Amino acid sequence: MNAPLDSSAATPAAIHRQDYRPPAFLVESVDLHFSLHPTATRVRAKLALRRQGESRVLELDGEAVTLIEASLDGTRLAAPRLEMLPSGGLRIADAPDSFVLETLVEISPEANTELSGLYLSGGNYFTQCEAEGFRRITFFPDRPDVMARYSVTMEADRATCPVLLSNGNPAGSGELPEGRHWARWEDPHPKPSYLFALVAGDLVAVRDRFTTRSGRDVALAIYVRDGDQDACGHAMASLKASMAWDEAEYGLEYDLDVFNIAAVSDFNMGAMENKGLNIFNTKYILARPETATDADYEGIETVVSHEYFHNWTGNRVTCRDWFQLSLKEGLTVFRDQHFSEFMGSAAVKRLANVRRLRAAQFPEDAGPMAHPVRPDSYVEINNFYTATVYQKGSEVVRMMRELIGAANFRKGMDLYIARHDNQAVTIEDFVRAMQDASGLDLSRFSRWYAQAGTPELRVEDSFDPATGRYVLTLSQTTPPTPGQPEKQPVPIPVAMGLLGPDGAPLPLRLAGENAAEAPEERVLLLEEARQDFVFEGLGEGKPIPSLLRGFSAPVKLSGLPLESLGFLAARDSDPFVRWESGQQYATAEMLRLVAAHRAGEAPALPEGLANIIAAVLDHAESDPAFAAEALALPSEDFVAGQMTVADPEAIHIVRQALRREIGARFAPRLAALHDGLENSGPYRIDGVSIGRRALRNAALSYLAQAPGTDGLPRARAQFAAGANMTDVLAALRVLVDSTDPAREEALAAFHARWRNDPLVLDKWFALQATSSRADTLVAVQALALHPDFDLRNPNRVRALVGAFAAGNPVHFHAASGEGYRFLAEMVIALDPVNSQVAARMVGPLGDWKRQNEQRAGMMRAELQRILARPNLSKGTFEKVSKSLAMD
Ligand code: TRP
Ligand code: ZN
Repeated sequence: MNAPLDSSAATPAAIHRQDYRPPAFLVESVDLHFSLHPTATRVRAKLALRRQGESRVLELDGEAVTLIEASLDGTRLAAPRLEMLPSGGLRIADAPDSFVLETLVEISPEANTELSGLYLSGGNYFTQCEAEGFRRITFFPDRPDVMARYSVTMEADRATCPVLLSNGNPAGSGELPEGRHWARWEDPHPKPSYLFALVAGDLVAVRDRFTTRSGRDVALAIYVRDGDQDACGHAMASLKASMAWDEAEYGLEYDLDVFNIAAVSDFNMGAMENKGLNIFNTKYILARPETATDADYEGIETVVSHEYFHNWTGNRVTCRDWFQLSLKEGLTVFRDQHFSEFMGSAAVKRLANVRRLRAAQFPEDAGPMAHPVRPDSYVEINNFYTATVYQKGSEVVRMMRELIGAANFRKGMDLYIARHDNQAVTIEDFVRAMQDASGLDLSRFSRWYAQAGTPELRVEDSFDPATGRYVLTLSQTTPPTPGQPEKQPVPIPVAMGLLGPDGAPLPLRLAGENAAEAPEERVLLLEEARQDFVFEGLGEGKPIPSLLRGFSAPVKLSGLPLESLGFLAARDSDPFVRWESGQQYATAEMLRLVAAHRAGEAPALPEGLANIIAAVLDHAESDPAFAAEALALPSEDFVAGQMTVADPEAIHIVRQALRREIGARFAPRLAALHDGLENSGPYRIDGVSIGRRALRNAALSYLAQAPGTDGLPRARAQFAAGANMTDVLAALRVLVDSTDPAREEALAAFHARWRNDPLVLDKWFALQATSSRADTLVAVQALALHPDFDLRNPNRVRALVGAFAAGNPVHFHAASGEGYRFLAEMVIALDPVNSQVAARMVGPLGDWKRQNEQRAGMMRAELQRILARPNLSKGTFEKVSKSLAMD
């Protein structure tokens, strides 16, 4: 049926962590000269190299660069001493101990649709070098353990490229004949090649200043396209807050005279931490109340801080090799989450982050791409910028801090930086610093970095009312993952409390402890496969355990009966446990209703769930942000993740039915919330205002599900009022999911108004791609042919293809198989244009093991069809072939 694999194409080889060898040559300094031209940029590179290993053979990486000439200490190099490698790199035989290598190459930024290396976007030049893009600019040992000092000179047309930026501090500029000009930048800090950056073009700066606590005056600038100056305020405020927080929390100051950010609309990911010159997807810089939602504002704060925090965790101390990626990413996500908790409502930020972890990382850990936080092998490193490396990596750091305490953690950070400043190190080095600072043995804890899969934590308990003895039995297992059939227990910190039958917190006295000062909360450490924790002195009623407070470990908890979940959802003091228990309760009921639906029974809102929702609504006004989170039902994907064989249709029917019934049952209160939370004042972006909008829009969304309410008229009015993008989009979401006559008109009006604002147009695509309406698949296919759809723009691809495949399970899994086919077509079309983004789109097809036989067969057929394409990129090859694997 399928064409055979192109037998002339070799299977791309895997790289293994255990094969690490130090580089044969070090680069002491790099002097780069760019003569910028859209199709023929010339790059002259002078590298001062020094031999470090035994070998005298120097190998440099290279990809899509054309060598014009090369010389060694001033002497022209030629074959056989100079050899081109099949990989695109260069080999120089018989290199001296220390020498200067000069190369001149030509590259075409215009032809670079991969957006890796030097490329053009809207006529301006940008670079993206992580992980292996620098080799697409010049020949170089393109690996993070080669750290060098860089100086960079650029020349370009003054008219089209008035701005010329690179890393470090400015070091001169001037005029050249024929309307050209030049600028030079010098970076005093040694860095790996992946942190190199260049920006050139017609951009304008929004400027500010920051004085570090030791008195360094730093010039801050955000470079954007003319017209976007008024959309940089939140990014700039976030940057300054991040700089202040890193000083206060970690004593870490900025270390250059300038900090530049440049925003670009064609970008493979969110942003990049290049030393002194961060490059950002415009999505994470530009925001005005009319164009950006509250979620966009929060994303900007997160990503701006994340990239800024990399200056120490990533740049000053970097990774030895790419297997250590979580050394910088896990730690930096931990830092940005901690910062966001400080900036807003900590509890709500925490549960939003847990929700994201469970939406992205848990499925990854349970799927064909499952890998440890520190992977053992990869084919294409770009495939390992994953939720596991980033988010689970952050959870692991968070647990470490919980175990050794905040003060020791800070000492450990100080020690880590003091020991390893300007070095390229490993995750072991980080753990060792934490261990040395705390005196705690973390060797067993390190299993968290080595084992893939989400540990399952089970609770059982027993109580003897006669003696007041309560035994809490915790046990753990981690399921097998590809390549790791057997798992060992990991140390799991379980923050917990016990509630009496009246909901009051009980004193926690473990057997053998002194009765005097029993705390009401403690952290149990489950180190073995199964352990008993015995509490004494507990009165007569059976206590209810409140476990994993604040989500103290990234595990799946099970074993609590429904009554306990309902009790905790209403009564626990810990907001995370309250939210989580409600979610677990709803999940259990939804699973039951799915089974009932398959047996022909119509879903009805269970009383217990209605009670939980009523309780949330009772207290909604006191914490609107929390209430909005607590009102949301678990996603269809989350419910599917709990089933051995998912039934996307039944899950969708059940969830929609519950939403409709909740809307009907609570209509008067939902309408009152929608009225009462309306804000007539100016748009404000503080946590309270965000929470009020979130709750108000949650109310609207429920109300609009229920027939006979005024939900749809309210949505129409809210859309027409156009107060801010959060409210407009929430209203349009409701209309787009409906058969309201105003739907098409609203979509057309939105398109007409925002057709020239790409970030807003992305929302227009994503909204339609995630619609629950029956005609969505056809609409999505049509949108792929819309003149505003563009395969070369990653944001647009994510807005349509990504949003559909990863965010619309019922239509992606359409029984016809058309959803799968659509995704496969898109991957096939995209792979030759931008393989990094194409590989990232494959994921949802890898979920076939959880689907019924028909769906699994169709999904596999689409994967086979992709795999059969000639010249498939190694990134897409790796994702597709691993997705097909049977183990
Ligand atoms: N290091 C970046 C971050 O986490 C992300 C990144 C990795 C990236 N590779 C990239 C960004 C490729 C854009 C393109 O902040
Ligand atoms: Zn990062």
